[in-house]
Amino acid sequence: MNFSVTDNDFFKETSLLSKEEKKGTVIHKSPSNIALIKYWGKHGVQLPNNPSLSFTLTNAFTETKLHYQTKAENESKSEISLEFWFENKKNEKFEQKIHKFLESLLPTQPFLGFVHLKIYSQNSFPHSAGIASSASSMATLALCLCDLEKQLLNTLENKEEFYQKASYLARLGSGSAARSVYSNIPITTWGQTNAIENTSDLYASPYSLPIHDIFQNYQDTILIVSAEEKSVSSRAGHALMETNPFAQTRYELAHSNLQKLITALEKGDTKTFIEVVENEAFVLHALMMCSSPPFILMETGTLTIIKKIQKFRKDNNIPICFTLDAGANVHVLYPNKYKNECLDFIERKLKPFCFEGKYLKDQLPVNSNQ
Ligand code: DP6
Repeated sequence: MNFSVTDNDFFKETSLLSKEEKKGTVIHKSPSNIALIKYWGKHGVQLPNNPSLSFTLTNAFTETKLHYQTKAENESKSEISLEFWFENKKNEKFEQKIHKFLESLLPTQPFLGFVHLKIYSQNSFPHSAGIASSASSMATLALCLCDLEKQLLNTLENKEEFYQKASYLARLGSGSAARSVYSNIPITTWGQTNAIENTSDLYASPYSLPIHDIFQNYQDTILIVSAEEKSVSSRAGHALMETNPFAQTRYELAHSNLQKLITALEKGDTKTFIEVVENEAFVLHALMMCSSPPFILMETGTLTIIKKIQKFRKDNNIPICFTLDAGANVHVLYPNKYKNECLDFIERKLKPFCFEGKYLKDQLPVNSNQ
């Protein structure tokens, strides 16, 4: 698929858009996702150094409303015109970031210069929860941009192409956002791998291989250990991989862990699932600890929680495990059938180590078509 707007469409568009005024609103909602196989290290224009795989969440999402109105004939069509509101307040910082992002898209998506845009965005989760929102927010923005293109140019009629392009644009905003455009798909992968057909570094795809029933409606309880902003941005973190002495080994490990996870997902093998998922979390943090400069992103509470999860698993023979993103918060993962026991354990034993006792209950969406 060609992700640039073609000359033909552009010609049609310029003649159409200059003649009649068009305005409208598009609205989209995108979930947050949690990577099991981590994307850490990139090259070129937001291309991943290894394939990644994530669980889609349900309760943590961003909703974005985009108003557009075509510019008057005498207004410049080579500039972005944008106003941005976050949680009902004008937000200059986010506006600048999105403005820059849209500007970077202009050469391939020239229709963006033909409209005045007003964007309103909000998260379902508290802003101070230390949860990365770039994935859900960039995904929802990308879906709105694709809808805008569809309304202005009558392109992207094909559903698969629509979502592929949304994932492609989301990736340019933030790598992990590529995996957040598919709301109702429980598992998503991004990055070329021979283990899964039709995968690409350019966009993420719904996971197409068999998934055992034990993973249906899998639970993710997000423990807020720290609500502070991360001490290293993802961008800087990815860049540190360029000089990390273990980088090559890590990329190879990601491929072999993905292969193991695929088999575990099919067989319902929670033991291997846990081994792989926890290994990915530890390796991500180990890579940061041996970067130059080094970063310790776990807090004392993170380690205490991890040990308690491992002990509870052993003592009760319940396949509960954890994963981490590039921060101190812990995602506790467990099958739906153990929900009561696990939530009781979290409430009694893990909550005391959460910042202000905060945690968020989430889960995978029930599989349905997009
Ligand atoms: C540890 O997607 O936030 O969460 O592409 O620079 O925006 P940028 O990075 P980002 O990196 C996410 C890293 C991670 C692992 C993952 O989600 O796969």
